[in-house]
Amino acid sequence: MTRLICVTSGKGGVGKTTLVSNLAASLAGLDKKVMVIDGNVTTPNIGFHLDMPLAKTTLHDVMRGTARIRDAVYRHDAGFYVLPAGISFDEMRGVDPATLGEVIANLDGTMDMIILDSAAGLGREAQSSMDAAREVLLVTNPDLPAVADALKTLKIARTKGKEITGVVVNRVRNHRHEMTTKEIEDMLSVPVTATIPEDLSVPVSIALRRPVVHTNPRSPVSEEITRLAHALVGLQYQKRNNSLVSRIFGFIFD
Ligand SMILES: Nc1ncnc2c1ncn2[C@@H]1O[C@H](COP(=O)(O)OP(=O)(O)OP(=O)(O)O)[C@@H](O)[C@H]1O
Ligand SMILES: [Mg+2]
Repeated sequence: MTRLICVTSGKGGVGKTTLVSNLAASLAGLDKKVMVIDGNVTTPNIGFHLDMPLAKTTLHDVMRGTARIRDAVYRHDAGFYVLPAGISFDEMRGVDPATLGEVIANLDGTMDMIILDSAAGLGREAQSSMDAAREVLLVTNPDLPAVADALKTLKIARTKGKEITGVVVNRVRNHRHEMTTKEIEDMLSVPVTATIPEDLSVPVSIALRRPVVHTNPRSPVSEEITRLAHALVGLQYQKRNNSLVSRIFGFIFD
């Protein structure tokens, strides 16, 4: 059975698309057959993160019933599949977000994992992504507005009977004003699964249109996302030795 995971958040801009593209790259590296679907039907942007913004046939065509799914699925260099959404305003016409569930039902059984990059919030579009999935991976930042919105998303996910696969806290700087892991866990009543630091390597990788786990695999961000990918499939991750000496040896002998 295909694992259908919706990566979602209450508040926008917390790092869902970044996490989705990098998790997919990490999981593909673990020999998992993975597909990423842009559930952000009105403001899609996974194509920009993965250097495929102008796909000829898109999820919108499939949802409108004018194309077959297999014509809208692309293989990324990193070894996973992508079902991108169309980026132009016109492409949105005649597309009902609720049909996403039918598209995904048709893909069930073809992959080890389908990861849906959801729209933020509690609106119809975000709920369509959640409805289409069995599991929810919640992303937040370590601040009260983001965590308060995450709590609402969590409640909706529970009402819909979804499995809560994890909570990812992104853009952590360990500043005094941030919420701590304990405070976030107390507020959400769910353990935090991954803590991803704020790191310039992320916007740099987006500008390069490649996953940061490829552009900067030794960065703490990449280490944590790779660890999360391992955990998602029940594998133990052996952290790399990041000391200067080992990096110099790695540089010479890699
Ligand atoms: N760990 C990080 N360190 C630094 N910057 C980050 C990190 N994670 C994400 N960002 C930045 O945050 C911005 C938003 O990220 P992203 O687009 O992944 O969020 P999103 O939750 O998908 O947004 P939306 O709700 O609009 O879909 C991007 O510009 C990205 O560079
Ligand atoms: Mg996004």
